[in-house]
Amino acid sequence: MKRDFISFADFTRAEIESLLEDAARLKAELRSGKGSRPLLGKTLAMIFEKPSLRTRVTFETGVKQLGGASVYLAPEDIRLGARETVPDIARNLSRWVDMILARTFSHKAMLELAEHSTIPVINGLSDLLHPCQVLADCQTILEQRGRLEGQVVAFIGDGNNVVNSWLEAAAKLGIVFRLACPPGYEPDAKVLADARAAGAQIEVVHDAGAAAKGADALYADVWTSMGQEAEAQVRRTAFAAYQVNAALLARAKKDALVMHCLPAHRGEEITGEVLDGPRSVVLEQAENRLHAQKAVMVRLGAQAS
Ligand code: CP
Ligand code: NVA
Repeated sequence: MKRDFISFADFTRAEIESLLEDAARLKAELRSGKGSRPLLGKTLAMIFEKPSLRTRVTFETGVKQLGGASVYLAPEDIRLGARETVPDIARNLSRWVDMILARTFSHKAMLELAEHSTIPVINGLSDLLHPCQVLADCQTILEQRGRLEGQVVAFIGDGNNVVNSWLEAAAKLGIVFRLACPPGYEPDAKVLADARAAGAQIEVVHDAGAAAKGADALYADVWTSMGQEAEAQVRRTAFAAYQVNAALLARAKKDALVMHCLPAHRGEEITGEVLDGPRSVVLEQAENRLHAQKAVMVRLGAQAS
């Protein structure tokens, strides 16, 4: 039976912990020049409805390092659901390639791709979730702190796709998650309710200073996500008090990590000084996208064959 990685809900806690161990091993192997090629002869189709730097480069590079190949499908190439239906695309790709990575607007399209594919589908960001990002972020916190259980992650900003994946990760891994967002920009109600029902420790507040107090990590993302560009001006006003800056960082633990999924808008959701400062692990997060996603591909690829 093929498996997908659409959300953290697709895996048990033990499976996610084992993915994180694999990611650390793959990182060490790459650095020592001893990488293996478990995806030899396999091909990854990469569907992108939105732009990308990190997701595209890390998946393309990752599958290549594992012995496989990739095919990049730009928005104008297949026009997901417009030139032909999502199920038809899923059924065709399943005949040629071994795995699909997709970045979509609608999460429904992501689920449809998975439902109609006989091969694994990996979520490289939808409007609802960004699980690959948060998996790499967990790897980063684990490296820096030695554990995830009980770590307090304070996200300052929009209750968006990255936040929704954090809610799921908090439920799975015992991370304490705080979100400070403006009223009206709360996370998805169902994802939040499910995470709380699963026992996650989550606080949603409107005061950035309160969320940052004593936190192990401060996390920022853009105020305006891809697809929301028409709201940029309204959002700049709504989010003005939700910037990760030196004053906010001073409220967190002395050795708190500064995290951002990138791309960053310096001077908006985070100051350049903090983004480039000594507590910032944003490039570790970006690097770990490569290793964490390789672990996902090896796991799903092995199960599918
Ligand atoms: N963080 C992230 O997913 O970056 P890209 O949009 O560049 O892929
Ligand atoms: N929330 C952002 C994440 C970018 C990686 C977006 O969806 O544009």
